[in-house]
Amino acid sequence: MACCGHCQEAGELFTDEKARTELREYRRNGAPNTPTRLLIDGLKTLDLSSTTLLDVGGGVGMIQHELMEAGVSEATLVEASPAYLKVAENETRRRGHADRASFRHGDFVDLAPKLPEADLVTLDRVICCYPHMTELIQASTAKATRWYGLTYPRTRWFLRWAKPVTDLYCWWKDMDFRIYLHEGVDEAIQSAGFRRFYQTETFLWNVALYERPEAVTT
Ligand SMILES: C[S@@+](CC[C@H](N)C(=O)[O-])C[C@H]1O[C@@H](n2cnc3c(N)ncnc32)[C@H](O)[C@@H]1O
Repeated sequence: MACCGHCQEAGELFTDEKARTELREYRRNGAPNTPTRLLIDGLKTLDLSSTTLLDVGGGVGMIQHELMEAGVSEATLVEASPAYLKVAENETRRRGHADRASFRHGDFVDLAPKLPEADLVTLDRVICCYPHMTELIQASTAKATRWYGLTYPRTRWFLRWAKPVTDLYCWWKDMDFRIYLHEGVDEAIQSAGFRRFYQTETFLWNVALYERPEAVTT
């Protein structure tokens, strides 16, 4: 399979074994990490019936699986890691949603011009895996006709201090992959025409939901 530079990096970290472990945990206990659960709970308060979803960096597909069961009619999942994409696709088939879902492998920013718009676009713990925050937010907000939901790391001082340690770990493991603590995420989303209507934090993560004001009044 042809692979972009970013997909190569994502594939080094988000491996087959990791994907299978995450899926096993998700099947057993539901979404295993708090920001994902908070994002899903926030999104479930919206009227999702007959809406479309575009999940960027969807991992094993937790958001997609949950929201398809909560009314989303069609979903597209984009993943840089082929292992995660395959696991997400198999799980979608197992849940009987395959005819309403599509799966795309690649760097979302490269694929975006060819992807459909959706009522809701989600990025759960993805911005921190990508070096070009502005491009990722511009490309993904442009696809969201109604809502935009995401989780991303808080820029706390100890995370800043931990960053060189994670960089060193990746270097030691001979991986090009890095974690990024981007500033200005909220501002970038608001300047793309979105209004934040929900925000919460965990110890490490921001969880936020946005809407397009013009889509709310029409
Ligand atoms: C930390 S994981 C989170 C997965 C899932 N959203 C979750 O919260 O369980 C980040 C995922 O985003 C994917 N990813 C990162 N940048 C991407 C991009 N530019 N295009 C597509 N996928 C991307 C990675 O391959 C990885 O599977």
